[in-house]
Amino acid sequence: MSAYRTEYQRSIEQPEAFWAEQAQRISWFRQPHEILGFDRQGHARWYGDGEMNTCHVALDHHVAEGRGDQPAIHWDSPVTAGKRTLSYRELRDEVALFAGGLASLGVGKGDRVVIYMPMVPEALIAMFACARLGAVHSVVFGGFAAHELAVRIEDAEPRVIIAASCGVEVDRIIAYKPIVDEALTRSRHRPEACVILQRDSLRAQLNDSDHDWQALVADASPADCVAVNARDPLYILYTSGTTGKPKGVVRDNGGHAVALHYSMERVYGMTPGEVFFSASDVGWVVGHSYIVYAPLIYGCTTLVYEGKPVRTPDAGAFWRLIEEYRVRAFFTAPTAFRAIKKEDPDGRRLEGHDISCLRTLFLAGERLDPPTFHWLEELLSVPIVDHWWQTETGWPIVANLQGLEPMPAKAGSATLPVPGFDVAVLNAQGEPAGIGEQGSVAIREPMPPGCLAGIWRDPQRFQRAYMAAFPGYYLSGDGGYFDKDGYLFIMGRSDDVINVAGHRLSTGEMEEVVGSHAAVAECAVIGIQDALKGQVPIALVIPKDGFDGDVTALERELVALVRERIGAIASLRQALVVARLPKTRSGKILRKLLRNIADGESYGVPSTIDDPASLQDVHEAMVAGEVGTAHRAQQSG
Ligand code: COA
Ligand code: AMP
Repeated sequence: MSAYRTEYQRSIEQPEAFWAEQAQRISWFRQPHEILGFDRQGHARWYGDGEMNTCHVALDHHVAEGRGDQPAIHWDSPVTAGKRTLSYRELRDEVALFAGGLASLGVGKGDRVVIYMPMVPEALIAMFACARLGAVHSVVFGGFAAHELAVRIEDAEPRVIIAASCGVEVDRIIAYKPIVDEALTRSRHRPEACVILQRDSLRAQLNDSDHDWQALVADASPADCVAVNARDPLYILYTSGTTGKPKGVVRDNGGHAVALHYSMERVYGMTPGEVFFSASDVGWVVGHSYIVYAPLIYGCTTLVYEGKPVRTPDAGAFWRLIEEYRVRAFFTAPTAFRAIKKEDPDGRRLEGHDISCLRTLFLAGERLDPPTFHWLEELLSVPIVDHWWQTETGWPIVANLQGLEPMPAKAGSATLPVPGFDVAVLNAQGEPAGIGEQGSVAIREPMPPGCLAGIWRDPQRFQRAYMAAFPGYYLSGDGGYFDKDGYLFIMGRSDDVINVAGHRLSTGEMEEVVGSHAAVAECAVIGIQDALKGQVPIALVIPKDGFDGDVTALERELVALVRERIGAIASLRQALVVARLPKTRSGKILRKLLRNIADGESYGVPSTIDDPASLQDVHEAMVAGEVGTAHRAQQSG
């Protein structure tokens, strides 16, 4: 039997023995003996009696084992012309001091801390400092607007907020402090203090309850690692669900550290001491797992990049970074390469860069479309590895395991289930779908360590969203199929979640924002295909009876409203006023049909439709509004 088969089967047939062994690879204050347990929903919880500290595993342990002088972080910021390297020892010391500062503000075990920061080393220092104290961080992506930040502050109820004075985008500086201040006026919860990192690009005006990062650290004494239970939460990361309220995915400490350690070896094929580069953002799960925690838990060096794939300064940015920092494994979203391909279709920018250090390129966050896969295959002489995972799992579910047994790649497939994940494709009756038959992708319990422990203070939502559909299985929300070789093909979400430039967004949430406009009677927000970003949202809107305002002005206002409430990252660029929306007789908007029309696909008229003429209306409005490739859509019978 192949090395992959042997390891995979063991992980599924003897999960306790398998994960007990893997637990030996990290440092514990008290080794776990109780390996696997289940919560009331039948969801696996790991290492119930283990005690450890994630910051200790990632920093102090490595310093003690002789890795103190190795670079832990290389920071490279073309947008500010900044560069900095911190060794493991320096990082450990800075984290301990900042943790001391947080402790002086009253932050302790179990307290929540919201972090709203760009890609600077201090974002990692803040996260590790929370982990060191046993506090629970919740990082909010810098591209989210005040309203989104406020929603997260209300839900997490942080004792302290840590922010930078600004973020720096390609063409503008984004003042973070006014966003934090506005979020606080909107939120019913008030933290006790804010800590602000002043950046030279734009310094912030501080209020009485604000603390300057430098001043806080200057007066602090280093704090030691606090022992936490393996099942205590390490962080909450909010992700889009199907409603306006994001889900607070809770990750625990012990299982997370064990799983990430395992993934660095088996999935990413890394060796401690090597450089890992994940071009994402600390505000997303990819950033949490593969910029911050996994590389350091495993003893690698992480490259923290404050820049873009293009325009900082050009489409050769990644090649320069790989060469300069001797990157061994590089991980980003396919959209980043679509942006590069658009500006540099022949890969000219690669010329003159020695990237022979690079061993593997990993892609995730959205489907790796075959044209991008083939373009990369031609350009580079390293394996191009698509792998599928989500915020909830925290690490890859399906991948081509570079550190176990690399398999031949198939364009459009993330390859085989990772050990620990018993992946199934289920039909509507909950039975396994046949080979090549599309269904709901689910994971049979016990899910391996590292996966979500629940939704922050909302066990019912956890049950409803993930566990109710198919008893004994976690529902991923993605549709897909297995081929005859057991390769999994993920075909997209089967709910209202869309993927825009590798960012996960909720159309339901955008509908709530659009629907809140005084002139809007009804609306639907759908994700349509986009050559660069994969998907982009558009809004279709029916104005209230008697609306006699300027339609174009209304459309513009709605676009601005989504940008103001959710943030620029929502990328809603088009709202379209229509007379009617296609609905079933029970009043459900036929969103899939709307997507078909916008994407230029042929569509049939379902027998359940209430008003078939509404389809023609929408089609004509989309063609007139030059939406996607709607002009190509045809009614098929
Ligand atoms: N803070 C504030 N604003 C931000 C932001 C941040 N951290 N990140 C993005 N934005 C803004 C952008 O400036 C842009 O604003 P604009 O509408 O005024 O131009 C808007 O949000 C949309 O951003 P984005 O979707 O990133 O589009 P883009 O055109 O700026 O860049 C790519 C397109 C493909 C280059 C970019 O999306 C990218 O690098 N993607 C990589 C994928 C990735 O990191 N995925 C994360 C999960 S792995
Ligand atoms: P997020 O939680 O932000 O990481 O988004 C997770 C979602 O992104 C998944 O549920 C998928 O819909 C999509 N996704 C992530 N990786 C892949 C991939 N390799 N192939 C297809 N879809 C992916």
